[in-house]
Amino acid sequence: MKVLINGITISYNDQGAGLPLVFLHAFPLNRSMWEKQERALSSQFRIITVDLRGHGESDAPLWRYTLDQSADDVKMLLNYLAIQQALFVGLSMGGYILFAFYRKYADRVRGLILADTRAQADTPEGKEGRFQMAQAAYKNGPSTIANMMIPKLLSPLTIRTQPEIVQHVRTMIEGNQISGIAGDLMAMEERPDSIPLLGRITCPTQVIVGELDQATPPSDAKLMADKIPNAQLAIIPDAAHLTNLEQPEAFNRIIGAFASSLEKQTAS
Ligand code: MLT
Repeated sequence: MKVLINGITISYNDQGAGLPLVFLHAFPLNRSMWEKQERALSSQFRIITVDLRGHGESDAPLWRYTLDQSADDVKMLLNYLAIQQALFVGLSMGGYILFAFYRKYADRVRGLILADTRAQADTPEGKEGRFQMAQAAYKNGPSTIANMMIPKLLSPLTIRTQPEIVQHVRTMIEGNQISGIAGDLMAMEERPDSIPLLGRITCPTQVIVGELDQATPPSDAKLMADKIPNAQLAIIPDAAHLTNLEQPEAFNRIIGAFASSLEKQTAS
């Protein structure tokens, strides 16, 4: 499905009924990374997945990108779908956008699931890496980005034994336009430190991380879970950064249990 939001076309899926769960994907992927979550959870909940601006079937304008702007796109999509509050699931960059969203629209958040993400801003080396990656994308195209990123996104075992997951990730990355890749890199590079926000998050929160995640390691997840009041932490074995693709059953179980507990709290 498509909708015109903030001057661009945004593509999304909306399936099922019940508590709305809104899924925000990682960089530089798209909403198809959530297919296994849609399939498993849409019999119980309303599952909304969105191609963030710059990705998948949404427009990738050649202009300035910010995480606040992506948060605004998500808020406008909620308005369009007449959803007042949702449980949000953000993986990595999706999590960074959730921090921006929470700063602006906390009243729209029923709960947060922060997967394989981190609250810290980029280090100076990290910022330099963003610049270099944007230049590599501009000069050599998105397949170079796929080659650079796949070893950071998936565990060595997944890369060796699950070629269909590797191919899916490669297809998502190669489907991006350079405007979207470079736009995201600039947006992530300038994101603020969200550590001061953590203590002010008052909604129920679940943190998830792959035990082998090197991009946003378990220590980052523990920091978030320690600082967000009453947050729960789940560490998924045998998964690196893309926990939802590498260990979908474990990921779906955690999401399903957390979403059900929110529904019960609402009903009581
Ligand atoms: C992601 O998976 O969204 C990226 O690894 C985030 C980042 O580059 O910081």
